Amino acid sequence: MTDPRLVTAARVEEDAQYEAGLRPRVLADYIGQDRIRENLEVAIAAATKRQEPLDHVLLHGPPGLGKTTLAYVIANELGVPIRATSGPAIEKPGDLVGIVTNLAPREVLFIDEIHRMSPAVEEILYPALEDYEVDIVIGQGPSARTVKMRLERFTLIGATTRTGLLTSPLRSRFGIAHRLEFYAPADLEEIVRRSARILGVPIEGAAASELARRARGTPRIVNRLLRRVRDYAEVRAAGAITMDVALAALKLLEVDEHGFDETDRKLLKTIIEKFGGGPVGLNTIAAAISEEKDAIEDIYEPFLIQIGFLDRTPRGRVATPRAYGYFGLDAPDERRRDSRLW
Ligand code: ADE
Repeated sequence: MTDPRLVTAARVEEDAQYEAGLRPRVLADYIGQDRIRENLEVAIAAATKRQEPLDHVLLHGPPGLGKTTLAYVIANELGVPIRATSGPAIEKPGDLVGIVTNLAPREVLFIDEIHRMSPAVEEILYPALEDYEVDIVIGQGPSARTVKMRLERFTLIGATTRTGLLTSPLRSRFGIAHRLEFYAPADLEEIVRRSARILGVPIEGAAASELARRARGTPRIVNRLLRRVRDYAEVRAAGAITMDVALAALKLLEVDEHGFDETDRKLLKTIIEKFGGGPVGLNTIAAAISEEKDAIEDIYEPFLIQIGFLDRTPRGRVATPRAYGYFGLDAPDERRRDSRLW
């Protein structure tokens, strides 16, 4: 069996290194997400003209769509340094105080998985974002006192897979908020051609378009497929990624025409076979397929919902007639007629 993480958007160390090399540095090289790009262009140009820090930015959306990439592009376009950390990495309030008190004027602080910050750390962030100051406690016991410390005016860029998990006071402190959407196949094709060019591997147009179609709307996945197919081309063929090479490699990787992997198939099949097509609760599905609830919600579901294979109803998850069709099954009649569900 293949590693189920192979074609999901979950990030592995190998991807992080690889993405760093392929990451566009300027907005003009950033492919797709046109509306976001245009809005950012305006905001960045205005902040630069006024020599002010950019308003705090919140980027949300499924993993692998380029939130981190965009944060680096923004800092680069602003011509300022960037410090990157993540919600879970900031363990104590003092850790965050240490970070924000060392920021240069207009510097970008990037906090990935910002929804996983602890409440105590979040408390520090509010005055830092709003008034550019933090309260520092000096001393201990009865003689302890708090001192306000001024900070340089900086820009926070927060990234999260789900805004629903952000507290509303935190959400309200971002002046700019964008949701990244899954990429159209044409955009992914352009991304995979660009990546192939950077890696120096020849790829046929048809092969690029095939990889794009099977990448679940996600640049991280198309780049990962490219890397695996390049391996195949070098070992089992003459090095170039022709359509034949791409198809053979994808077959070996067990990536089907929708880009589904083992977990997608197991998830849909379990809902259909064990739970009569649903509705079935997320906890039950997670237990039935031995997968993390968060991974299902963050990684698998958004894409299956987007392409109309899964539906989220108040009573639970439901497999759509399309999902039945994928396994060569007919959806039960009442499901096809029930217009409330579709
Ligand atoms: N690599 C990953 N995401 C990209 C994007 N949106 N544009 C260009 N290259 C990318």
